[in-house]
Amino acid sequence: MFVTHLECSACGLRHDWSRLQNLCLSCGKPLFAIIDLAAASRTLKREALATREKSLWRYREVLPLPGDVEPVSLGEGGTPLLRVQKFGEDADLWIKDESINPTQSFKARGISVAVSMAKHLGATKLAVPSAGNAGGALAAYTARAGLEAHIFMPRDTPQANIIECRELGAHVTLIDGLITDCGAEIARRKAKEGWFDMSTLKEPYRVEGKKTLGYELAEQCNWELPNVILYPTGGGTGLIGMWKAFGEMETLGWIGAKRPRMFAVQAAGCAPIVLAFDAGEKTAAEIAGANTLASGLRVPKAIGDFLILNMLRQSGGGAIAVDDKEMIRVAREVGSSEGLFVAPEAAACFAAFKALRSRGKIGSDDRVVIFNTGSGIKYLDCYSDR
Ligand SMILES: Cc1ncc(COP(=O)(O)O)c(C=O)c1O
Ligand SMILES: [Zn+2]
Repeated sequence: MFVTHLECSACGLRHDWSRLQNLCLSCGKPLFAIIDLAAASRTLKREALATREKSLWRYREVLPLPGDVEPVSLGEGGTPLLRVQKFGEDADLWIKDESINPTQSFKARGISVAVSMAKHLGATKLAVPSAGNAGGALAAYTARAGLEAHIFMPRDTPQANIIECRELGAHVTLIDGLITDCGAEIARRKAKEGWFDMSTLKEPYRVEGKKTLGYELAEQCNWELPNVILYPTGGGTGLIGMWKAFGEMETLGWIGAKRPRMFAVQAAGCAPIVLAFDAGEKTAAEIAGANTLASGLRVPKAIGDFLILNMLRQSGGGAIAVDDKEMIRVAREVGSSEGLFVAPEAAACFAAFKALRSRGKIGSDDRVVIFNTGSGIKYLDCYSDR
């Protein structure tokens, strides 16, 4: 494998990859895996990808995990990029359908890679605070790996996620509070319980799994990235992961310096990144009383806020909020016109697309990609009261 070390995304301090690591030991910010891309490129050729397995492990050389170790896999990745046919007829709009991943969301990507590494490095009990989909994915991959999952979710998490975690054998604790309260509970108890903390960006390898969204997108677009990406943003690992992938692919000589304009889409009831972006801030203040049906967007404070904001600005993109009523309305429009039953988080991106199009931030000649991060089937509680 070609990971040489871990590096702090804020202060640059090096850390050893071969030990279980959470945040930077000096400044407490997220760690990134640094890959020896020159060495990786000796066997990883862009032309050869088509001949490899469909799962995200086809990018093995740019992922962690020693070559002789079997990944914990349920067939994640390799999702379709579909042309949107009727919605937004006057645009070149595409949807990357992540709902067909194991456990029906994009969370499978990060969790497959992170569970593989956690198991390899000796962790046995994995804990995660979750809005729902990460919990379901962790429950599935720990079951597959023969490890324990300890999942902390807000009490009002969609029923499907809660039932799924239990049926997959996880220890589930429901908390009267938000995902940040779930994370705080894990932080309080993890040392005593012997849990390894798998929170978004608080361990280095979920983002490595998520970066395969970027590799796959480039491959499917024939190495010409789209002009605009709309991504439903909670913790932001998908955005951060894709940005890392774009940088790595440029170093590999697979793509040029041009980047898509990246837009973070959030819910009006919880839009810390949008507020910070508009105010020109480098970090985002915590939202009090965060409230939205789109549980994956109910993240009042993201540890990677500075990375998200920096990347949105560097890309020439932005951040936009959508209210719950509009996302639920648009979900049916997408469903009935495209045949895709999308998660409310993804529906928010379709609503954002319309808003950005009418504000002139997206032109008719722009190629735009929306990520359907999860299936609407997980959100029957949100869609049934209409
Ligand atoms: C369906 C869905 N979309 C988007 C998100 C937000 O993803 P991220 O944490 O990568 O910003 C989540 C997170 O739970 C989710 O479940
Ligand atoms: Zn640091």
